[in-house]
Amino acid sequence: MPTLRDENGFLTLGGVRLIDLLADHSTPTYAYDLDGITAEARDLRTAFDDAPHLVAYAVKANSAGAIVRSLASQGCGADVVSGAELQVALGAGVPPHRIVYSGVAKRDDELRLALRVDGQGILAVQLESLEEIARIDAIARSLGLRGQVSIRMNPSVDFDTLDTHAFIATGHDEAKFGVARADMSDALDRVLRSSCLELVGIAVHVGSQFTSTAAYVEAARVAFEVAREARNKGASLRFVDTGGGFGIDYGQGCPVRPCDFVRAARQAQRDAQLDDLALFVEPGRALVAAHGVLLARVLQPKVSGARRWLLVDAGMNDLLRPALYQAHHRVVSLEPVEGPQETWRVAGPVCESSDDFGMHSLPSVPPRAVALLDAGAYGYTMASRYNGRELAPEVFLRGGLVESSTARQPTEHWVEERLRAGLL
Ligand code: LLP
Repeated sequence: MPTLRDENGFLTLGGVRLIDLLADHSTPTYAYDLDGITAEARDLRTAFDDAPHLVAYAVKANSAGAIVRSLASQGCGADVVSGAELQVALGAGVPPHRIVYSGVAKRDDELRLALRVDGQGILAVQLESLEEIARIDAIARSLGLRGQVSIRMNPSVDFDTLDTHAFIATGHDEAKFGVARADMSDALDRVLRSSCLELVGIAVHVGSQFTSTAAYVEAARVAFEVAREARNKGASLRFVDTGGGFGIDYGQGCPVRPCDFVRAARQAQRDAQLDDLALFVEPGRALVAAHGVLLARVLQPKVSGARRWLLVDAGMNDLLRPALYQAHHRVVSLEPVEGPQETWRVAGPVCESSDDFGMHSLPSVPPRAVALLDAGAYGYTMASRYNGRELAPEVFLRGGLVESSTARQPTEHWVEERLRAGLL
């Protein structure tokens, strides 16, 4: 369990009493346990049983330098989706030969950056359409480079079998992502014909927050089938990338663990007799979500008839997942839980009815501060300044201590910037 209560009942993360952080840090604030994150990566890597592999961390889940650096120190690579994420991965010490770049719509300057890094380029730019193949071919030609690429295929898994929120299902026919299965033969031919591109991999990513391996394995099997076809056409493939999407337990239970996805993909690989290829996976959430919390102070209760709201100083701009996906993040007291409990509806200050963290059992006498659990992934990276709010600072814990933290970015700065620029 990443968050635990100590012997006096205070909530801890990484051995640190979270309420103590509030003495030096205003709220809302994210806190992360770097030890928990590195242990997660170590565990996942053991599931590969020494077979050639790469855990390409999906930087979009949390792009904090301290986190990407910690994962790089465990031998993880990076899956990036923009030039900026590529710069973050490089800056945090991920070697270019461990970086793959996915994304359905990449700009020319981003493609150029990926092809040029270190004069060699990154491990693979994952191409997602026939049109993109033509674009990168022209760019590589103009730079006089040979670019390493893989093709991200849409594995065309039946939408109804994708047991996740529709917004985060990507491997079905209606999704914008990946080259359609029916176009793959053509895509392979186009890349193999190009003197400026080298086909090194086949990739899929079927969606996110899966609590069973079924859809993941189905997509993996299609990827290996296409890898065989690519080989038969003469490609010197190095890897098959079966993507991310490993679900975590947000409190409602999750019967599978991250290593179950790896073992299932390994089985699909053995069945396809393609054991000589490296197996890549791209987890984001599973490495970081449970090791991060969003800390908030309770501002006041608001009792209106039968409705009992608990208003906190974190809002949907800090943690968008409940508003966007109806996701449930447990809200718990930082202080010992004593006395009677009741069901509070926890909500933030943002002027939207969807700024609502749902129903939670909390003490009848409201605690001073709470933690929203499992906020390490897709929390800070999806935050905004909506309603003139500040981006929350982040605190990084290691070895039971605060290792580093970022400063609050006060709203006054952007108000001043706009004033200075004559925009107000
Ligand atoms: N690889 C690709 C190509 C992806 O698009 C994604 C996530 C991942 C890997 C990592 O997926 P993960 O292992 O984290 O599930 N904001 C949403 C999740 C969106 C995921 C987008 N792509 C959420 O908060 O649930």
